[in-house]
Amino acid sequence: MAGDPRVQQILDRALAEVAGARSTSDLEQVRVRVLGRSGQLTTLLRSLGSIPATQRPKVGEQANRAKAELEAAIAARLEALKIEERRRTLQAERPDLTLPGRRPLPGAVHPLTRVTEEIIEVFEGLGFSVAEGPEVESDYYNFAALNFPDDHPARDMQDTFHLGPDALLRTHTSPVQIRAMKAQRPPVRIICLGKVYRRDLLDATHSPMFHQVEGLAVDRHITMADLKATLQLFAREMFGPASAVRFRPSFFPFTEPSAEFDVRCFKCGGDGACRFCKSSGWLEIGGSGMVHPNVLRNVGYDPEEVTGWAFGMGIDRITLLKYEIDDIRLFFDNDLRFLQQFAGLPGR
Ligand code: PHE
Repeated sequence: MAGDPRVQQILDRALAEVAGARSTSDLEQVRVRVLGRSGQLTTLLRSLGSIPATQRPKVGEQANRAKAELEAAIAARLEALKIEERRRTLQAERPDLTLPGRRPLPGAVHPLTRVTEEIIEVFEGLGFSVAEGPEVESDYYNFAALNFPDDHPARDMQDTFHLGPDALLRTHTSPVQIRAMKAQRPPVRIICLGKVYRRDLLDATHSPMFHQVEGLAVDRHITMADLKATLQLFAREMFGPASAVRFRPSFFPFTEPSAEFDVRCFKCGGDGACRFCKSSGWLEIGGSGMVHPNVLRNVGYDPEEVTGWAFGMGIDRITLLKYEIDDIRLFFDNDLRFLQQFAGLPGR
């Protein structure tokens, strides 16, 4: 006899299901149902004892063959499913080689950063090092140590952002002078660069946050002539070899004497009739002076032994002038049309 018809039935049905399986989990279901621990074929093989002894070997062999055939069919189908799956993924992720490439956008150093780096380069070349300090300051570092009288108008709420009883946003980089001098003995040659804050309304020429650079030199025999020569050299590097610097008498609590300094207009060369310098021939750049003896005393220096000078200027203003930009807000808008203009510039 041709074995047990149930075996052929089970096999035929299972093979049909394997052929129709759409996924590996479909396949697994068939395997478990037929070949699993309590699967149909497994159960049948286990019950061989209950069939007549004459048929046992035949049915046993038949069932074992069916098992082997089904296992092979499952393995083959599994392989085919994997290949199909891979083909489908490749198809779905296939790159369209006819699409135009994405051109990388060239980045550009922000104009304020360019100028900041240029300033650092000039002063490092002169032996100055960069000092840093916090943007949130106490009254002591921002004002008192810098010899501001208690009733000085710069302490007024109009100018200063107060954050708490003794916390404010620094209104200039001069507090870094104090911190640097307290941390070291003369000679001192530092520049401090960074953000400063004043209660100004934002318009084309004012921003409540802007950037300053401050220079400080303290040593024996430091004079105002050194200051002028240093500013002169800086102006030539920044605005061109023909740049001249002039002092105008001024007042700062922390310097005595004090002077504002101007650079000859590099647009008109000082001839006037120029919108750039408002026909004055000069561009106002910053403040400067000899460090006040009280300030030297406040940091523990002896004003009989050492003298010093300091200057401060706005990096934003220098950048506006240098690149002939007419609105400070452009620096902070992050408009790529503006920023990209600095991508092709030589130098940095
Ligand atoms: N700290 C001054 C300001 O912000 C600038 C300055 C610095 C003036 C150093 C003199 C000396 O206005």
